[in-house]
Amino acid sequence: MTTSAPAEPTKRQVRLETPFTDQKPGTSGLRKSSKQFEQPHYLECFIEAVFQTLSGVEGGTLVLGGDGRYGNRRAIDVILRMGAAHGLSKVIVSTNGILSTPAASNLIRKRDAIGGIILSASHNPGGPDGDFGVKVNGPNGGPTPASFTDAVFECTKTLEQYSIVDADQISLDTPGEHVIGSMKVEVIDGVDDFVELMQQLFDFDRISDLIRGDFPLAFDAMHAVTGPYAQRLLVDRLGAPKGSVRNGIPLEDFGAGHPDPNLTYAHELADLLLNGDGYRFGAACDGDGDRNMILGNRCFVNPSDSLAVLTANATVAPAYADGLAGVARSMPTSSAVDVVARELGIACFETPTGWKFFGNLLDAGQITLCGEESFGTGSNHVREKDGLWAVLFWLQIMAERRCSIAEIMAKHWSHFGRHYYSRHDYEAVASDAAHGLYDRLEGMLPSLVGQPFAGRSIGAADNFSYTDPIDHSVTKGQGLRILLNDGSRVVVRLSGTGTQGATIRVYLESYVPSSGDLNQDPQIALADMISGINGLAEIQKRTGMDRPTVIT
Ligand code: G1P
Ligand code: ZN
Repeated sequence: MTTSAPAEPTKRQVRLETPFTDQKPGTSGLRKSSKQFEQPHYLECFIEAVFQTLSGVEGGTLVLGGDGRYGNRRAIDVILRMGAAHGLSKVIVSTNGILSTPAASNLIRKRDAIGGIILSASHNPGGPDGDFGVKVNGPNGGPTPASFTDAVFECTKTLEQYSIVDADQISLDTPGEHVIGSMKVEVIDGVDDFVELMQQLFDFDRISDLIRGDFPLAFDAMHAVTGPYAQRLLVDRLGAPKGSVRNGIPLEDFGAGHPDPNLTYAHELADLLLNGDGYRFGAACDGDGDRNMILGNRCFVNPSDSLAVLTANATVAPAYADGLAGVARSMPTSSAVDVVARELGIACFETPTGWKFFGNLLDAGQITLCGEESFGTGSNHVREKDGLWAVLFWLQIMAERRCSIAEIMAKHWSHFGRHYYSRHDYEAVASDAAHGLYDRLEGMLPSLVGQPFAGRSIGAADNFSYTDPIDHSVTKGQGLRILLNDGSRVVVRLSGTGTQGATIRVYLESYVPSSGDLNQDPQIALADMISGINGLAEIQKRTGMDRPTVIT
């Protein structure tokens, strides 16, 4: 522990010529290009609005850290100085500013903080030409609700000044205690508490038993935040061979990569697992460590299926040995988990896209596990999705079942049937073209009911709206659903996290019972629905793209 001498900060009010009007937070906080964030006063204005909106700032404790991307260090410095100006009593910040999103969620909860600020644009590329982001979590450790982000946005639009103190930069190299005026800054190792939490949830001895045997595994941290966590958990603690963690050093630009764990952006890992026989288990996490991709030897686990398998096998993990209260999935996620929940006799909730919608259900004890098709899975242990938690959960299942991932999947489908599923993303589409396509399709919805589609007929079509079962808030316009009469469906949404133009997401799902053909390529199983929606929504014509940017 090191202690630095108290600084004597001068508090300043910085006046603005004009407020920023483009600081509307999206699906996960304010996400913009690094260049936009580098405009003078841009970050400061958003943080001022956050401090004016968050409850308990005066005298409260805040958790602060990020995924290590370009801009992380500067933002931490600014937020510490603004926090001191706003009367926070303490900020808990991680060494080198490295703190994964789930680890931040855990710390907020454990240390009774008023909330946390996580600096990340999640899976978006980083660096001077990449993206930066600011996420604000509340006292339950989860993303703040729309009522909070709307209030922050309103505040930014009329902001005239912000408060900041002048103080020397605090060293984040090692754990220690510092002060800025009367505000304490506690620098802690951002990995320790997370490892401790994982040890409470899983049977590490059993997992270690599996891993120490003939079990070559590859974890790809994508040069993002999970490198130090995975090294500590998988190698140091569970005994995986040295070198099991690939791209384990966090870099400001993620090694010029795109830290999104899917088959397109984590293609090196995918190639190792899907086209070779050297590894039995592969996994990757995203920029801030909340997403996960699970791979077995020659087997890709679709994230919707992953949630279903975790639900069906939950009792193998000590934390869930007594069973689950209920589960939830985002609307575009496949219904694979619904079928499992039905058999287990537990509730299954369908929420809009975005982790914040799980918060109330988790807090109310209505659900234990939840997930999204976008490589997000989590539980009531924190209030964020958690990439490494999912990796450990899968390892726990393998340690118990002692069979391959492909065998686990085959067994699952032969019992529950298979939900063929795919998501097609059209990225960086001109905003007008994307909105034109979406609005036209929305206008067509009422007339589609009863029409033929992909050899079936359309039973219902709507724009998904959600009433929160706990606080009864209503969230409208969450995605266009075309529901076929055999239970298959197509969903079309516009992304709320992209920063360049618009991203159109098309989600396709079709169910085959256990007696049907369970071993098709999803793109083939869904081919008629893919061409059906391309025709109906005029995707190629309106985007000028002859294929999606990313197929999952
Ligand atoms: C995407 C995912 C969504 C996830 C969010 C944050 O949002 O689709 O499931 O919660 O990132 O990780 P979108 O870009 O679709 O709005
Ligand atoms: Zn993320």
